[in-house]
Amino acid sequence: MKKIFLETYGCQMNEYDSELVRSILKKENYEFVTDEFKADIVMLNTCAIREHAHRKVYGRVHNIRHARGKDSPVMIGILGCMATNLRQELFEDKSLKIDFIAGPDSYKRLPHLIHEASDEGQKSYDVTLSEFETYSDVYPSRTEGGVNAWIAVMRGCNNFCTFCVVPYTRGRERSRSPENVVDEVRRLAAEGFKQVTLLGQNVNSYHYDNYDFAYLMDEVSKVEGIERIRFTSPHPKDYPDHFLDLMAANPKICKHIHLPLQAGNNRILDMMNRGYTHEEFLSLVDKIRTKIPDVALSTDIIVGFPTETNDEFEDTIRVVTKAQFDIAFTFKYSERQGTVASKKYPDEISEAIKTERIMHLHATQKEITYQKNLAHIGKTLTVLLEPYPEAKNKDQMPGRTDGNALVILPLGPYKGGDMVKVRIIAATPHALKGLPV
Ligand code: SAH
Ligand code: SF4
Ligand code: F3S
Repeated sequence: MKKIFLETYGCQMNEYDSELVRSILKKENYEFVTDEFKADIVMLNTCAIREHAHRKVYGRVHNIRHARGKDSPVMIGILGCMATNLRQELFEDKSLKIDFIAGPDSYKRLPHLIHEASDEGQKSYDVTLSEFETYSDVYPSRTEGGVNAWIAVMRGCNNFCTFCVVPYTRGRERSRSPENVVDEVRRLAAEGFKQVTLLGQNVNSYHYDNYDFAYLMDEVSKVEGIERIRFTSPHPKDYPDHFLDLMAANPKICKHIHLPLQAGNNRILDMMNRGYTHEEFLSLVDKIRTKIPDVALSTDIIVGFPTETNDEFEDTIRVVTKAQFDIAFTFKYSERQGTVASKKYPDEISEAIKTERIMHLHATQKEITYQKNLAHIGKTLTVLLEPYPEAKNKDQMPGRTDGNALVILPLGPYKGGDMVKVRIIAATPHALKGLPV
C-alpha cells in the first residue's frame, strides 16, 4: 500500500478539494500519512493567487527533494491552481523534478496519473478544465469530530476581474443540483456537524436550472441538526433583495456578509472590471444594513493596483471609513501571469508605496474593528463552540458569534459544537471575552 503525504495551500476550496482527493485515493487503497518522511508520494495542493503563494510552493518542492536526498525514490505531485497555470514551467524546470500534475478538474484521474508516473516512469499530467465537473458523486473524506463542514456547491468563475488568476486556473462556473447538495448536508448532520459553509469561487452566483442561491440556502436550512449556515466567497453583484430578505428572516443563516470591495476609487474599480462604482457599493451596504440591522460585514481590498495614485488610494480609505466593515482582508497587488491586468498595465507601484498604503489601511481598519468589538460589551450573544483540541490555549474555549466574531470563554461544562449563550465582558481588537449566562 503506497503512502501519501498531502499538503494544502490557498483557500477553503483547496482544503475541500484535498478532502475529495483523499476520498478518491483511499478507494484505490492509498494510505494517507502525517509524517512526510514516511510517504512514497508527496502531493502539494497549490495556490496561485499571489506571487508569494506561488514562490512558497517552489521553495517547498526544493526543500522536499533536499530533505529526502537525491537518490530518494519519493514522487512529487502538484495539484491545484498552480498546476493549470504553470504546467509548462514545472516540467521544464529540471531542478524541480515533478513527477505528475493534476489540475482542479482532474482529480478523478489521479490514480491513473500516479500509476503512469510510478510504474511507467513517465511524467504525467492532466490540467484540462471541465465545464461540467462538480465532483457531486464524490463524498469528501473529512476530519472526524468537526463542528463546521465545508461543502462546494459551485466551482469556477466567469467574472474575470483583471487582477485575478482564478478564472484561468479553475475555469467556468458550474453548480451542483440542490438535491445533491441537500443530500450531502443531511449526511453531515447525521455525522454530528453543526454548521455548514457553502463554498464556491463565486458562491452567490450559484445557478442550477431555475434554482438560485437563495433557494439553495433555504433548502439547506431545512436540514435538521444543522444550526448555522455560512457561505463564501461571494461577489457584490449577486445580492438580490429576495436573498437579503431570506437572510434577515431565516435564523439559521448567519448574519454575516462578505462584500469584497477591492478598491474605493471608480477609475480603479473600472480598470479592475469589478462592475460597480463606490457609490453603488455603499448603497448596497446601506440596503444590507437596513434589511439586516445586526449584520456583520467583511471585505477584501487590494492596494497598489497599477496606476493607483495616492488620492485614489485615499478614496479606498474613505469608503472603508463609511462602510464600517467588521473585518478587512488586505493585499498588495501582485501581478499574475495571463491576467488582463498583467497584459495591459505594468505593475509600476513600488513595494515601498504598497507597504505604506497597506499599513495605513490596516491601521484605519484596526480601529474600526476595535470599536465594533467594544460595542459588543454588555450584549448577550449565542456562540457556537469550536472543537476543543484545536484550541491553542487549553484553559479557554473559543467560539464564534453569528457574525463570526471570535469569543473566548473560560472552561466550563460545555464542549465543541455546543451553542452557548454568553455575555460579552471585554474586547480587544482581535477577539471578545465572554461568560456563559
Ligand atoms: N472569489 C473571491 C476571490 C478569491 S481571492 C472573490 O471574488 O471575492 C481572495 C482575494 O484575494 C480577492 O478578493 C482579492 O482581494 C485578492 N486577490 C486576488 N488576486 C489578487 C492579486 N493578483 N493581487 C493581490 N490580491 C489579489
Ligand atoms: Fe477572482 Fe473576481 Fe472571480 Fe473573485 S470574482 S475569483 S476576484 S475573478
Ligand atoms: Fe488560491 Fe486557487 Fe484558491 S489560486 S485562493 S487555491 S482558488
